[in-house]
Amino acid sequence: MTTTTATTPTTPSGDVVARAAAGFRQRYGAEPAGRWAAPGRVNLIGEHTDYNDGFVLPFALPLRTVVAAAPRDDERWTVWSELSADPVEFGPADVDEPGRVTGWTAYVAGVVWALRAAGHAVPGARLAIASDVPVGSGLSSSAAIEAAVLAALVDLGGLDLPADRWPRLAQRAENEYVGAPTGIMDQSAVIRGRPGHALFLDCRTEEIEQIPFDLDAAGLAMLVIDSRAPHRHADGEYASRRKSCERAAARLGVPALRDVPADGLDAALARLDDDETRRRVRHVVTEDQRVLDTVALLRAGRVRALGPLLTASHASMRDDFEITVPEIDTAVEAALAAGAYGARMTGGGFGGCVLALVEAPTADAVAAAVASAYAERGFAAPGAVTVLPAGGVTRVD
Ligand code: GLA
Repeated sequence: MTTTTATTPTTPSGDVVARAAAGFRQRYGAEPAGRWAAPGRVNLIGEHTDYNDGFVLPFALPLRTVVAAAPRDDERWTVWSELSADPVEFGPADVDEPGRVTGWTAYVAGVVWALRAAGHAVPGARLAIASDVPVGSGLSSSAAIEAAVLAALVDLGGLDLPADRWPRLAQRAENEYVGAPTGIMDQSAVIRGRPGHALFLDCRTEEIEQIPFDLDAAGLAMLVIDSRAPHRHADGEYASRRKSCERAAARLGVPALRDVPADGLDAALARLDDDETRRRVRHVVTEDQRVLDTVALLRAGRVRALGPLLTASHASMRDDFEITVPEIDTAVEAALAAGAYGARMTGGGFGGCVLALVEAPTADAVAAAVASAYAERGFAAPGAVTVLPAGGVTRVD
């Protein structure tokens, strides 16, 4: 296996930008008025903490989704993407009734819906979407679509909507229009990410701090291994984890699990009467603390020392939150055995990607070790790429 190195472009690679514009010209026979790009993301640490009002530390990827768009003079939206053969068109009546637009187009309709629900006059538009963010790999291709479409519609309509309000609005699109009960992390990362930084987000207050995360300067690489594991029951399991956390918080008499302090964990666990709930709570409380510890190490410039925290996060997701799958655990074990400082699943779970923090010159060897562990177990070959933190959504031209 060879790894490909994605660098940190200030604009997306010419290719995906060109594809969006070419798609626009071909479908609509005109030039787009502009192009807007939003990245995928990985989460360095802080999993299933966002909807518990806790802490997360994601960063934006150099892989991007690009929307080429132009206004139209009626109140309708036409969307074409590389994912679909034919454009889909919808109007206000479809948008105002969640469920009428389905599939990936629902993310676009959801953004229109959320903007309208917030009282904005959304301009009708033609949109063409091209993407380098793989779908179904847990890299937030959906948040990338939401953010790029949101940026396009805000610009085309001259809407008065400061960017710090975009993450909540895109999250509403996903929660209430698409119907996925996700937290605020993905939209925040793809909207507010900054090159060379991880985004430290307090999901209760929405306060952010950009934490320098310069892997290159440290001679390190972050390997993103795509487990290629099929997402098994991911939506239902995600929703059920979220419900258990909310029930546990209610039983403990706190607004959210964020309010259980790490040094009060044992006392809190003693008040819960079933083992599964205790494990769920232990994951969230210890994971919040690992985010804070990771931020402290990054502030101290001790990037290599992150390894044990990443690996402990993985063990917690595997044993306490129970959201990993055999392919994912195999990738983590093989990466660690091949010398990674730390490795963990990133994202919602039940498939998706693994992060491994490695010395830069060893990235190919670690990826090869994971590939051979996969081959031994008869799993479909994994993907691997090294990434650097990139910037959030932007207008390209
Ligand atoms: C998905 C959700 C996020 C977050 C992660 C788990 O990516 O969209 O809101 O809950 O899972 O950390």
